[in-house]
Amino acid sequence: MHNPSVRSLCDFIDASPTQFHAADSIMAALRASGAGQLDDREKWDLEPGKVYFLARNGSSVIAFRTGRKDPPSSGFLVAAAHTDAPGLRVRAEKTVTKRNALTVPVEIYGGPLVSTWLDRPLSLAGRIAYRDGGGEPVTGLVNLAKPVAVVPNLAVHLNRDFNKGFEYNTQTHLPALTGSPDPRESGDTGGIPWGVAVAAASIGVDPQAVLGAELYLVDIQRSTVMGDELVNAPRLDDLAGCHAVLSAFVAAGTADHTQVAAFFDNEEIGSGTAQGAGGLYLRDLLARICTAMDPSADAFYRAAARSFLVSVDAAHAFHPNYADKYDDQYSPVLNGGPVVKANAAFRYATDAVTEAAFRLWCAAAGVPCQSFRTRADMTPGSTIGPMSSTFTGIRTVDVGSPILSMHSIRETAGAMDHGMMANALGAAYGEGPGR
Ligand code: CO
Repeated sequence: MHNPSVRSLCDFIDASPTQFHAADSIMAALRASGAGQLDDREKWDLEPGKVYFLARNGSSVIAFRTGRKDPPSSGFLVAAAHTDAPGLRVRAEKTVTKRNALTVPVEIYGGPLVSTWLDRPLSLAGRIAYRDGGGEPVTGLVNLAKPVAVVPNLAVHLNRDFNKGFEYNTQTHLPALTGSPDPRESGDTGGIPWGVAVAAASIGVDPQAVLGAELYLVDIQRSTVMGDELVNAPRLDDLAGCHAVLSAFVAAGTADHTQVAAFFDNEEIGSGTAQGAGGLYLRDLLARICTAMDPSADAFYRAAARSFLVSVDAAHAFHPNYADKYDDQYSPVLNGGPVVKANAAFRYATDAVTEAAFRLWCAAAGVPCQSFRTRADMTPGSTIGPMSSTFTGIRTVDVGSPILSMHSIRETAGAMDHGMMANALGAAYGEGPGR
């Protein structure tokens, strides 16, 4: 069985501060394993036993290894995860100066634990679109990989009640401090806003040529393995899922069925984009694979009916300091192995049949399998499983590795869970969707 090291996961996370970098890291690994990139605009000639991938928006990637048999007769085994993470996106076209404080306004992306972004050195990462030398619009990835901003809290002396709880106002409390020049000097950035200026300079682009920007304030501290048992890192939700899917996919050998690895952007804002799981990206891609290998009109439908999707996203681990927030029968522990997530309202796509399939893959891989359900008086989050299932009609199970502090700028996982998840996915890729 293939068992990726936790150090390899940490390197992947550190190289992937945003969904654009995560997609780039995934594509680099796929290319290194011999995969060929497909073009949406072209007709595809697909050969059995080959690996291909299709990127969308530079932030989502779907890879597949064609099977020895065509999909209508042997189906797809899809494993999916998401490339994005919650956080603070800067309004890159704007700088606000108060006295001599240079600040950049932000918007919230997804549902971060906002307070964890404060009082820490933050870097800037994302992408910019700009005019190249010939006047054509192109995009460039930005990763400063150095501290350039901080969102300072108010001193406790100026808000004595702060520790009783405080709600941050995104417009007024969260602009990030990016500089404080000598008050006798102007602090003038020449009319070019800070985000654009810093991002453009970092990749050698004239800031005047910048046409658009998607930039985030990101953690600068490296991912760390603590002792032998814990991992503390940013974006474990869901880059750990991406890395487990990628590792298992790359290590899998050709089978009768077609193996698919899907990495979606925009899960944290509900997946409702062209590159998200709430759109037709996956369905269209699977349909095109079918069409390329079997021209009959019902090829996709026959394939979908034989297929299976494993949605891999972080799960809530038992937190010893908040034991009452869990149902003790359904509170997975760190290093206890992959978690199956289920919910009566199908906020997770798992049903008895798909849970059974995943449990058998865990057993085949020799790894334990845990269960998560929220307390019956609480509502769980959701993930890419229900939407992928709704849009493709494919049987789906929602699983994940347990983590603490989900949506904090730093999350904590069990060091042993990652390899166990990759091995369970390896068993799924090997055995395929079944009947
Ligand atoms: Co997630």
